Amino acid sequence: MLVVGPEDEFTKSLASELTADMVFLARRTFPDGELQPRILAGSEQVLRGETVVLALRMKAAACRPNDYLVEVLLTLRNLKREFKVGRLIAVIPYFPYARQDEIFRPGEPLSSKYVADLLYHAGADAVLSVTVHLHRLKRFGDLFDEIPGVNVSGIPALAREVGRFDLSDPLIVGPDEEAIIWAEEFANHVEASDYTSFVKERDRDTGEIKMTVKEFDLTGRDVVVVDDIVSTGGTMAAAIAAARRMGARRVFSAFVHPVLAQGALDRILGAGGDVIVATDTLEWAGSKASVIPELAAEIRRVA
Ligand code: R5P
Repeated sequence: MLVVGPEDEFTKSLASELTADMVFLARRTFPDGELQPRILAGSEQVLRGETVVLALRMKAAACRPNDYLVEVLLTLRNLKREFKVGRLIAVIPYFPYARQDEIFRPGEPLSSKYVADLLYHAGADAVLSVTVHLHRLKRFGDLFDEIPGVNVSGIPALAREVGRFDLSDPLIVGPDEEAIIWAEEFANHVEASDYTSFVKERDRDTGEIKMTVKEFDLTGRDVVVVDDIVSTGGTMAAAIAAARRMGARRVFSAFVHPVLAQGALDRILGAGGDVIVATDTLEWAGSKASVIPELAAEIRRVA
């Protein structure tokens, strides 16, 4: 088995966990924005017929899911067509367009399904992702008609990291009703008995957030706000501010995917967040929790 990816810690750790060899990928952007992911295999023979894991992550803060998707598609196609690899496992830790898992208004595309189709047609024989935002579809595998799609949870990695702090009578909070599943899973991992969710309404046109909170006396208690994605940071910041107002001792902000649009971190810290913990599903220097153990276990299963 070989792991193909950029020459970074993520690729190296994944290869080490899988006791696989590595082939690096150089990512180039031309002045007009076109992309050229180049496989540095030396010779095509290195990869021919091998089981290959493509481990490519989107860059946090850059907010370019379209660029990322094109890089992944070009690389999958290249590995299959030119390098003639055997089984090709695509690790897409942050699955772009996952939030569009339903046609909310007539005429919208079912983007998550179409992205899955593109990955299959580019050459993926299996796709693994992490904590995919599929609240309506429920099973990530249902996006794929011909190949397995495996959704690996990023919550254990967050719980391992936050669990290092000595939590005082913690309340685990999902910032909106959909996030109750992450809050419950996290609470089970850190053996916290108390978890809840707030209620968020977002205006579909303006993106404006209105949050309704349940009232708690949080004096002396730690609060961990758990979500799958932080993009603008608006959802996380609203939940943190509510926990602060209710007297929380410390507020942890734990999220799987640090998409982090401009200003997101300032928004979280400005709302009163004490500790930020995110996983390494995107390229971000601040990621403290690694999903590699869980990913490697599932890769071994589908390889
Ligand atoms: C929404 O359903 C997700 O679970 C996140 O809460 C949301 O994507 C976060 O977005 P933002 O950081 O822009 O509020």
